[in-house]
Amino acid sequence: MASNIILTGFMGTGKSSVGRRLANRLRRPFVDMDTKIEHQEGRSISEIFANEGESYFRDLERALVLEISGQEDLVVSTGGGVLMDPRNLADFRKSGTVICLCTTVDTILDRVMRDRKRPLLDCEDPRAKIEDLLAERQAMYQAVSIQVDTTGASHDEVCDRIINTAL
Ligand code: S3P
Repeated sequence: MASNIILTGFMGTGKSSVGRRLANRLRRPFVDMDTKIEHQEGRSISEIFANEGESYFRDLERALVLEISGQEDLVVSTGGGVLMDPRNLADFRKSGTVICLCTTVDTILDRVMRDRKRPLLDCEDPRAKIEDLLAERQAMYQAVSIQVDTTGASHDEVCDRIINTAL
């Protein structure tokens, strides 16, 4: 049965916070992919990137997508790059409803600069990096038909939009 709800989208679009809230409201189990990978590995995403490289992390993501896709009724927050592997979108689609969260570059910058958890943005000019990555990944995010803009919205407002338009 295709009953999972999968929230994807760029870093800082609100996937984890909204996912946690949505799972709570719908009384469903919540899986945050980045957090799950950190627990599995016993180290942070930044440490995994620094010590093993990005492709090792992408393999862990791929394995977790397969595991999640075999389960039901989950609310899932993905990492922002998971759709770079087209097999992941195909498997997510088979397992449930895929929703892409989006927002402005200013909002992304504001949200991600509050922590140092994003190795890809740990650079001299994070704004330029965000713009480059967004341009590179635009087609990948646009491939998701349900888009929900989180700019200026509370977590509950985003949940309302998801519940009213996508479920
Ligand atoms: C990444 C996004 C991060 C995390 C990793 C790579 C990306 O997740 O998976 O740092 O490639 O966009 P968030 O989108 O939850 O920050």
